[in-house]
Amino acid sequence: MQFIPDPNLPAVNGDVGMMEQVLLNLAVNARDAMPQGGQLIINTAARTFDETYVKRNPEARAGQFVCLSVQDTGCGIAPEVLPRIFEPFFTTKEAGRGTGLGLATVYGIVKQHQGWLEVESQVGQGTTFNVFLPASAKSAAPAVESISSAAPRGRGETILVAEDEPALRRLAARMLRNLGYEVLEAASGVEAIEVWERHGRKVDLLLTDLVMPDGLTGRELAKKMATHESGLKVIYTSGYSPEMRETAFVFREGTNFLQKPYDPHTLAKAVRNCLDGKQAP
Ligand SMILES: Nc1ncnc2c1ncn2[C@@H]1O[C@H](COP(=O)(O)OP(=O)(O)OP(=O)(O)O)[C@@H](O)[C@H]1O
Ligand SMILES: [Mg+2]
Repeated sequence: MQFIPDPNLPAVNGDVGMMEQVLLNLAVNARDAMPQGGQLIINTAARTFDETYVKRNPEARAGQFVCLSVQDTGCGIAPEVLPRIFEPFFTTKEAGRGTGLGLATVYGIVKQHQGWLEVESQVGQGTTFNVFLPASAKSAAPAVESISSAAPRGRGETILVAEDEPALRRLAARMLRNLGYEVLEAASGVEAIEVWERHGRKVDLLLTDLVMPDGLTGRELAKKMATHESGLKVIYTSGYSPEMRETAFVFREGTNFLQKPYDPHTLAKAVRNCLDGKQAP
């Protein structure tokens, strides 16, 4: 692996946690593309684009940009696959290996930062992903500022993720592992109980879907576990807003409830707040 940073790079306005996600997803894809090994080259460069360039690249804009390139010497991407790689859930990896959400996430984040992506790939030669982010007029922000906007991290706490949708479960588990948590996964309430018992009934936080297949709901699962773990923290998730008036129980978005789909930063904050016993701001 090589990292070749440009020493004279203008600053960009970026969310540190999201930039980590971009780099991580591109690097993991590069690794997957090189099962026999190879070269991973990450570099940065300042680039200026004029109107001529914009005419050829509909997503590009004129002005000053920072280019982050992630290059591999892997299998490359077939021309018929290339137009689909940014689609959510598009994957060429075998079932259970890829959710197809990596590049969709990258695309979303880069768009959100007013940037765009370009891909160059040769089958059998390798692939380069170029991420363009607008240069900021300000000089580099002090490190303190960037740290405060970074996603709050885990300190090795154990989180049990109970979610029946495999793609969402894998995604949540991955986000949490990236943040530094130990993650256990279960596809139903019943499986969650099994996993929890196998793990010596030691879990710091339960992240559970409210509605799951084999009869045991998220609420019932949490009640069962709480009888053995009095300090258990719970965050419920659902695609729908739950009945907020359930007797003696209140769902508070961002504190003990997350509406799906949630983004990595929201999850990171909710989990940290919940573990620390804090209300969401
Ligand atoms: N560096 C690369 N080299 C070759 N193919 C790639 C590369 N990056 C992405 N692809 C192709 O694009 C597809 C979509 O990538 P994406 O990251 O969105 O999903 P995934 O890697 O399959 O699954 P996930 O990232 O969710 O685990 C991959 O399945 C692969 O076919
Ligand atoms: Mg991927």
